[in-house]
Amino acid sequence: MEFMSTICLFLVVILTYFLIVFLLKFLYSAQTKLPLPPGTMGWPYIGETFQLYSQNPNVFFASKVKKYGSIFKSHILGCPCVMISSPEEAKLVLVSKAHLFKPTFPASKERMLGKQAIFFQQGEYHTKLRKLVLTAFMPETIKNKILDIESIAVSLLQSWEGRLINTFQEMKTYTFNVALLFMFGRDEVLYREDLKRCYYILEKGYNSMPVNLPGTLFHKAMKARKDLAQILAKILKLRRQMKHDYSDLLGSLMDDEEGLDDEQIADNIIGVIFAARDTTASLITWILKFLAENPSVLHAVTEEQESIIKNKVERGEDRILSWADTKKMTITKRVIQESLRVASILSFTFREAVEDVEFNGYLIPKGWKVLPLFRNIHHCRDNFCDPEKFDPSRFEVAPKANAFMPFGSGTHSCPGNELAKLEILVLIHHLTTKFRWSLVGPQNDIQYEPFALPQNGLPIQLSLKR
Ligand code: HEM
Repeated sequence: MEFMSTICLFLVVILTYFLIVFLLKFLYSAQTKLPLPPGTMGWPYIGETFQLYSQNPNVFFASKVKKYGSIFKSHILGCPCVMISSPEEAKLVLVSKAHLFKPTFPASKERMLGKQAIFFQQGEYHTKLRKLVLTAFMPETIKNKILDIESIAVSLLQSWEGRLINTFQEMKTYTFNVALLFMFGRDEVLYREDLKRCYYILEKGYNSMPVNLPGTLFHKAMKARKDLAQILAKILKLRRQMKHDYSDLLGSLMDDEEGLDDEQIADNIIGVIFAARDTTASLITWILKFLAENPSVLHAVTEEQESIIKNKVERGEDRILSWADTKKMTITKRVIQESLRVASILSFTFREAVEDVEFNGYLIPKGWKVLPLFRNIHHCRDNFCDPEKFDPSRFEVAPKANAFMPFGSGTHSCPGNELAKLEILVLIHHLTTKFRWSLVGPQNDIQYEPFALPQNGLPIQLSLKR
């Protein structure tokens, strides 16, 4: 009898314990359950993809910001997502709480660029790669290559003289050749044509439907990706036989003490060229458009560039550009900054919540995509007055903290930003001091492929100044 009552007592204690634990958990979760950000999710699966891509994406984002404020939810490309459009919240995602938001890309794009490439990584492997990539693009390294960049710029400019050119296509050649110079040093000319052929096929498939069947653009792109890896394997083999020291990205990746394997090296070379080419080419295209449309700014830039030549001639120096000359290009640098702001080449980037995240009073559930909207931040009146106006002089004073992030922010910010600016300065120097150009055809529309680009790649007519 006594034994039975002890058992009963024991069961009551256990049950009471579990009941209390359950009640506490329930009360706690009821109290801490945060709402999702405001916004609409559209149709099942399709979400609001159609609304986003059937118009200028910025109109979609701007109307949402107006309706719901700086943070709102939506559903695009099959994924629930949260869009972020204030500088402070973007900084939280990209910098302060970066460990809670991993970079994310569609699987097909990862396969195409290479799974081991820097963009897709986090943690130790990312830190290691970033160090190696930064070594190849830090000011101390790039300043020694101005002469080579200049000779690429001059020879291309000569080939455009008197021609009607598609600015974006020609700038892609320029930025591709400069990128190869930084990947393989002066050896790059040996592989330029083969690599270029493969890259052009790869880019055509990059934004196509990921259907890997013979004949599709995607299939051709995957084949070109294999060919690229083979060319790189050949280059690696040659370099290992030569045993020289190389101050380029390939040299930096091969020098890693713990050793990267060939696949890791290839993924990163292919990925970095991809990141370097179209971004910089579309920015140069925008700069040429803005300069042509703003004669007073073009005049100021030309004067600044001519005074650099004049000073060199007066000092009896030859005309080759030096690192010190680029430091004197203050007005031209403001034009680059303002073009980065107005054009906002990368309208937004993608992250993914690695766990349920409490974010400024809202819940961002694990697995949801998070999109900091760079373009909205750059075009918001609270951050830049008269934001639609192209006015480089606004950069005479520093912009509001975190309101200007054309190269991203935090651990994944752009390691190539100094190179991008340098190659643009060199090209603008030769272009404004030697050439005139005029826009040809309608110029008002913007294409997204996926970077923002003037209509038809900006056809222009170039002629030598007499
Ligand atoms: C005007 C030209 C360029 C613009 C606007 C630009 C913009 C950006 C932005 C916004 C990011 C961050 C993306 C994110 O956080 O998800 C980024 C990352 C990156 N960019 Fe650039 N970029 C430019 C040129 C270049 C060049 C010339 C290179 C190569 C040298 C380069 C290499 C990279 C790499 C490797 C990353 C990934 C870094 C990482 O994940 O740690 N970019 N770029």
